[in-house]
Amino acid sequence: MSDTLKILETSPQTDDVDIGIEKEGRKTVAKQLSKILTDTYLLTIKTHIYHWNVVGPLFHSIHEMTEEQYEDLFEACDTIAERIRALGFPAPITQNGLLSDGSIQFDAINPSAKQMIDDLITDHETLVRKMRKAAEAAEDDAEDLVTADMLIERLTVHEKYIWMLRALVTE
Ligand SMILES: [Fe+2]
Repeated sequence: MSDTLKILETSPQTDDVDIGIEKEGRKTVAKQLSKILTDTYLLTIKTHIYHWNVVGPLFHSIHEMTEEQYEDLFEACDTIAERIRALGFPAPITQNGLLSDGSIQFDAINPSAKQMIDDLITDHETLVRKMRKAAEAAEDDAEDLVTADMLIERLTVHEKYIWMLRALVTE
């Protein structure tokens, strides 16, 4: 085997990460981050779909707001996946591994603008509850301050989106 092929055959898994967090702790945090990554990706897709299909008097506001949100969510996926890698574990490497086991459902058929917003609020709130638990566990159980800090930053953004989405449809 050529040296180039040998290099390409290296495993993405690294057991020798020595950053002051036990392997079990890193593994638990990476698993939780994988679930958060799945939900963030699914919410990116759903937000984009609503961006395309929204109709009605709030079209412009929702179209613009969803664009800002799916762009941010897409970038967040990259940040979360790269944190999993920094912890020494592979980011999901198959479509099933990435998109299975998520909390975000795609049940609504031809939803109204109000139903779209209510649906997005529900999803952001679900994700916020999951992230809050993961942030607490990362800090308290694994002493992984970087993941906790990243999740707190994401929580801040999601909670802002929940406020903005709700304000849009509140009389
Ligand atoms: Fe667009």
